[in-house]
Amino acid sequence: MPTRHFPLVFMINFSALSKRYGPLEAVRELTFQVEPGEVYALLGPNGAGKTTALRCLATLLKPSSGSAYVCGVDVSVDPLGARRRIAFLSSSMGLYQRLSAKELVTYFGRLHGLKGVVLSRRVDEMVELFAIGDFSGRLCGKLSTGQRQRVSLARALVHDPPVLILDEPTLGLDVLSGRTIHDFIVQERGRGKTILLSTHQMEEVDLLADRVGIMRRGELVAEGSPTELVQRLGAPNLARAFLALMSDWALVPGTGQA
Ligand SMILES: Nc1ncnc2c1ncn2[C@@H]1O[C@H](COP(=O)(O)OP(=O)(O)OP(=O)(O)O)[C@@H](O)[C@H]1O
Ligand SMILES: [Mg+2]
Repeated sequence: MPTRHFPLVFMINFSALSKRYGPLEAVRELTFQVEPGEVYALLGPNGAGKTTALRCLATLLKPSSGSAYVCGVDVSVDPLGARRRIAFLSSSMGLYQRLSAKELVTYFGRLHGLKGVVLSRRVDEMVELFAIGDFSGRLCGKLSTGQRQRVSLARALVHDPPVLILDEPTLGLDVLSGRTIHDFIVQERGRGKTILLSTHQMEEVDLLADRVGIMRRGELVAEGSPTELVQRLGAPNLARAFLALMSDWALVPGTGQA
């Protein structure tokens, strides 16, 4: 099948993407775009479909219908091409327990085609960037949550891709580790990277996001800059704007879906 390309105006493009798990439509006709150099935050209650959408984009799940594009590459048509262009971070992705932190990052660098001095230099950069040095020789199975998250970031970013997809990047981290990741996101944005993240933390959104998409029951129900959303909903802040949008929130009986 020939590779279909989308104009490179958008680094990320969801086009009427839906994903079903049996009878449950976890993501419904999702359409939104992220421009080069933008930080876009997906918000939504538990079960809204954020992780499912991100996993479809990262080629880990096959959409039931519709498409997603990374740098113009249709992720269903050319998954390897898409993977080369993205870093995907998710707490649900395990690390190989029997490799040390540094071995793991090196292994993934090699999988992405890095070798020799380029590989070792890049691994050293990652170790330094995420302050992994103190535990770089320790087995991944013996790391704390925050240490694991830093190694996961290093592993995801070792090939220095242009698009970062981060599913709750600061979940379970202490304030200091969270701050390291926020600083990193700001720095990567400064280098022109495009970042799509999901989060439940409004301060994170206020601090980082150029635009926000709010999902509910698999659908995008609002989109705009944090300031626009707050103004449009007449709320004093983003958290209240979010709550206003969810005010008739209720679990759909029998689906467990928000
Ligand atoms: N593998 C699966 N099989 C069946 N249903 C699933 C599967 N993964 C997710 N779901 C369901 O799909 C819906 C969306 O889940 P998803 O994990 O995408 O939500 P989320 O917005 O990321 O939630 P959270 O904020 O809790 O991380 C939920 O109702 C969930 O139970
Ligand atoms: Mg999730």
